[in-house]
Amino acid sequence: MPVRTVRVWDLPLRLFHWLLLICVAGALVSVQLKAMDWHGWFGLAVLGLLSFRLVWGLIGSTHARFWSFAPGPKSLADYVRGRWHGLGHNPLGALSILAILAVLTFQAVTGLFADDVIAYTGPLRRAVTGATASQLTSWHMRMEYVIYGLIALHLAAIAFHEFIKRERLVKPMITGRKRLESQDALDARGGGWIAFVVALLVAVGVVWVANGALLPPPPPPPPDLGW
Ligand code: HEM
Ligand code: HEM
Repeated sequence: MPVRTVRVWDLPLRLFHWLLLICVAGALVSVQLKAMDWHGWFGLAVLGLLSFRLVWGLIGSTHARFWSFAPGPKSLADYVRGRWHGLGHNPLGALSILAILAVLTFQAVTGLFADDVIAYTGPLRRAVTGATASQLTSWHMRMEYVIYGLIALHLAAIAFHEFIKRERLVKPMITGRKRLESQDALDARGGGWIAFVVALLVAVGVVWVANGALLPPPPPPPPDLGW
């Protein structure tokens, strides 16, 4: 059967993926180096990317949409029995992808209220009480190993598909295209410029609010009494 190439992943989704990789790595490395300002900036960038992805999951192109890959019991059972022949994320991969998106959202949001009690606080720390901040900080810190676990699982699954099942997944995440023998598969559609601008504006708005733009200014420091 003749082979043809099909557009699967749109450019914004691919940019989202590789920027997410850079920003999550940046957040994890900077925290180890105790570069907390950088950690906060990378974390805010992750939050912006996730907000973009959330909107793109509603108005992006075919395989970027959540409803196109959210797995149900039937698609999972079909996949396990080798009877799933879709184009986008496979049902099992989709589960781990949804878990990554959810855990990173939790991490970025809790980080906004976190307090290292030494020199750095998240930009929304002032909006909550000390007890709430310390609870959110403790959840933020405990999530570290869950994130490492999900990334390890993600990379192991990709390596399994690439090297054992000989299915190309990484190249399509770079070029956007998959080579197929099927004649029926259609190019992904939708997710044009207007959708992109809407998703970008939402992401910028979320980062603006998350960075404390709507909080009242902090109280002035106590007067210097010269003692
Ligand atoms: C070198 C490292 C990485 C490689 C080679 C890689 C590769 C891939 C590939 C090939 C896919 C598409 C899977 C499919 O066809 O169903 C994918 C999806 C995804 N990856 Fe990665 N990945 C890497 C690192 C990461 C990291 C560090 C994260 C975040 C912690 C991440 C998060 C995601 C997400 C959220 C998706 C789903 C894309 C979407 O629909 O939004 N990846 N990755
Ligand atoms: C998804 C992105 C993020 C990741 C992966 C991440 C990861 C981490 C990790 C692993 C730690 C624990 C370091 C340790 O064990 O000492 C940490 C601490 C911290 N993070 Fe994040 N973080 C993210 C987003 C954010 C954001 C958006 C902010 C605020 C703007 C933030 C603020 C903080 C603060 C203040 C601490 C220090 C807590 C302490 O040492 O008591 N993080 N982060």
